[in-house]
Amino acid sequence: MENDCLSILDKRTNTNYEVPFYKGTIRAMDLRKIKTGAEDFGLMTYDPAFMNTASCHSSITFIDGDKGILRYRGYPIEQLAEKCTFLEVAYLLICGELPTAEQLKAWVNKVTHHTMLHESTKHFLEGFRYDAHPMGMFISTVAALATIYPDARNIHDAESRRLQMYRLIGKVPTIAAYTYRHGLGYPYVYPDNDLSYTENFMNMLWRMAEPKYQANPVLARALDVLFILHADHEQNCSANVMRSVGSSQADPFVATAAAAAALSGPLHGGANEEVLRMLDEIGAKDHVPAYIKGIKEGKGKLMGFGHRVYKNYDPRARIIKQTAEQVFEITGKNSKLDIALELERIALEDEYFVKRKLYPNVDFYSGIIYQAMGFHPEMFTVLFAISRTAGWLAQWEEMVNDPEQKISRPRQIYTGHEIRDIVPMEKRGSSAISTSRP
Ligand code: CMC
Repeated sequence: MENDCLSILDKRTNTNYEVPFYKGTIRAMDLRKIKTGAEDFGLMTYDPAFMNTASCHSSITFIDGDKGILRYRGYPIEQLAEKCTFLEVAYLLICGELPTAEQLKAWVNKVTHHTMLHESTKHFLEGFRYDAHPMGMFISTVAALATIYPDARNIHDAESRRLQMYRLIGKVPTIAAYTYRHGLGYPYVYPDNDLSYTENFMNMLWRMAEPKYQANPVLARALDVLFILHADHEQNCSANVMRSVGSSQADPFVATAAAAAALSGPLHGGANEEVLRMLDEIGAKDHVPAYIKGIKEGKGKLMGFGHRVYKNYDPRARIIKQTAEQVFEITGKNSKLDIALELERIALEDEYFVKRKLYPNVDFYSGIIYQAMGFHPEMFTVLFAISRTAGWLAQWEEMVNDPEQKISRPRQIYTGHEIRDIVPMEKRGSSAISTSRP
């Protein structure tokens, strides 16, 4: 026991406790036995933003932030991006192994046959204003699917869970494409089952009057690679939301919508949209030094830089840079690339960024590619959400099957008033906070 436990001396009571190590951690519940007396609740840990708390076991994604390593189910992201399709990777994330040819065929077939949206969903989308943000439409529409598939509440049935996964992975590109066409005022294009996942998505986005849309194979593959890179990232903010909402046994549609809402924030998936705004604001390569000076003086953050886990180059950003070159050969170079490269060059040499280990993350270059392909910035986070749906579902499935998981419910350190009596209205002083509008 001596070497496989942590010895804690509580100086309040002069009591020594032995807390066993558990897979390189200690179980927070073991600290509860550290008490000052029978009335004491027991010791808790305080960890805002979960900076040092493992909330689950997971065998899906491995990240070594110091070395810049990302693996799904043990496979390096570089190999997956080179050798697999997005749907193959989605299978890997959810089922745990790469599919055989036969398994992949059946998986693709299932997903493809769930791409169609119920007509009432189409009408639901039509209710949004012409300028509604696509991410708001996406989140609401994914949640609305729960009303069409009430069987999704049957979360303890493995077969039912799998059916909802086919539905979600199949339908998110359709919803995304419809949000895009809604903004443009174009009629919606129904899915085409003869096409691959990304070709079908491109067809639903960009087909106009032609009888058959021909996606450029280089662009379709680039989109597939971007989907692979974004498919999962262990316990990030949105995966944590997926697990947390799912832990209440809510159905996977509303849990996915909640995860997508978390993704939409500018510190998470919304960063790709913000990067483009930032590059527009900078305007030209020679304005970069002044912009970086402003950031160092505390005027905002360099969007697309920094990461909670990576303290080295984000391996996804490296692959995206290569993908960008292939895309630009077809589309022509995005003029923002020069500004981005200059920003990266200066930031990586600058003491402020070096000291804080701030490197470009996945969002730094993805928006530049998406824009070159024809997407406007409001769509970028929706594209992220399409592929992350596979990761969220893998995290959800793992959580549902984990016997140790219960409803998520953190503790707090209460800092409010002690008990007090209500003062009658006429005796309340002016110190009460005003709730009237200015
Ligand atoms: N620009 C300038 N300074 C930064 C940046 C940045 N992008 N990111 C972190 N810092 C500074 C921060 O001010 C702090 O400095 P100090 O020690 O002087 O207070 C230090 O670096 C540590 O940062 P932090 O905010 O404590 O780090 P965090 O782990 O809480 O935040 C982050 C991680 C990704 C939210 C943050 O780096 C950030 O806001 N980056 C910009 C937004 C972004 O690109 N997000 C996408 C993340 S990757 C994809 C995804 O998750 O969806």
